[in-house]
Amino acid sequence: MRVGGRAEWLLEPATPEELRQAVVAARELGHEPRILGGGANLIVDDGVLPGVVITTDRMKRIFRPIVMSTNLVEEPDARIAPASREDGLRFVSWAGTTHQKLLTSASELGWSGLEGLAGVPGHVGGGVAMNAGGKWGGMWDQVERVLVVDERGDLVELMRDQCSPRYRNGGLGRKIVASVLLKFRLDSVPAVKERTREFLQAKNKVQPVSLWSAGCIFKNPDPETSAGRTAGQLVDQVGLKGTRIGDAEITDLHGNFFVNRGNATARDLLALIELARTTVADRTGVFLENEVKVWTSGAA
Ligand code: EPU
Repeated sequence: MRVGGRAEWLLEPATPEELRQAVVAARELGHEPRILGGGANLIVDDGVLPGVVITTDRMKRIFRPIVMSTNLVEEPDARIAPASREDGLRFVSWAGTTHQKLLTSASELGWSGLEGLAGVPGHVGGGVAMNAGGKWGGMWDQVERVLVVDERGDLVELMRDQCSPRYRNGGLGRKIVASVLLKFRLDSVPAVKERTREFLQAKNKVQPVSLWSAGCIFKNPDPETSAGRTAGQLVDQVGLKGTRIGDAEITDLHGNFFVNRGNATARDLLALIELARTTVADRTGVFLENEVKVWTSGAA
């Protein structure tokens, strides 16, 4: 959203092992680190953010594992001939790979499964942690294993059936995603590219993709309590589209997209979010929960 201040400490690990070391170092200094992926679903408060931020920005590797059993960390032996596109159907992706890069890598092989992430900004680590996606599917549809830094500061591999992903929540709690093993279905290159293009076009029609936003601000409420209305529809119905506080604005295009028109502060955005939440609650009785993460200058 291009708002917010500076981090007191910023650590930039380049590998899963360095990520583990960074987490341990922060905890030894008494800070629970905040993990910054692509920042696509995040509002950072104004001012100086105390404590440690760890960015996964340098952990951009994506590769095809040769040994399926344990190879979430190592790269395949370079002397082995390249696999054909029918082989394996798996990528290992480290946390800092962009969704875009992951989708391009899969579509160039005609591997299907993650086209639903087309146009979803951000990094794979955040995508796994939050189960990023939309109506055409999401990250956890394809996750086979995930390598995390756990609460004790160890790198631990979790199988899919040890995890309980849900709507917009990877279910990993305080575990930090280092790397993930993703499984795809074999399809043709044109079919995968065409589907990706289709989803992207549909999304462009209803979402302000070129403006500075954090995607959807609120989670969609339980359809039973909201009579089937989505968060965007509720904000729309109470007439708040187009409302501004400073340079923070609820877009005319979609009630669940709030944008920075240029010089918004985090405080403007947070005030606009509270205005929408209380107005929707007062007029419809539905309480909207944040989907976007907010880093305030208080406790991590
Ligand atoms: N609608 C309105 N007014 C609005 C916005 C939407 O009437 O201001 C209507 C639309 O016409 C449509 C319905 O509401 O009939 C649903 O809208 P949309 O298809 O845009 O889906 P959504 O539920 O608002 C979800 C995800 C998006 C994802 C899209 C498409 C959540 C909170 N949002 O939006 O995810 O891109 O589906 O798959 O789950 C995100 O998580 O950040 C995000 C953008």
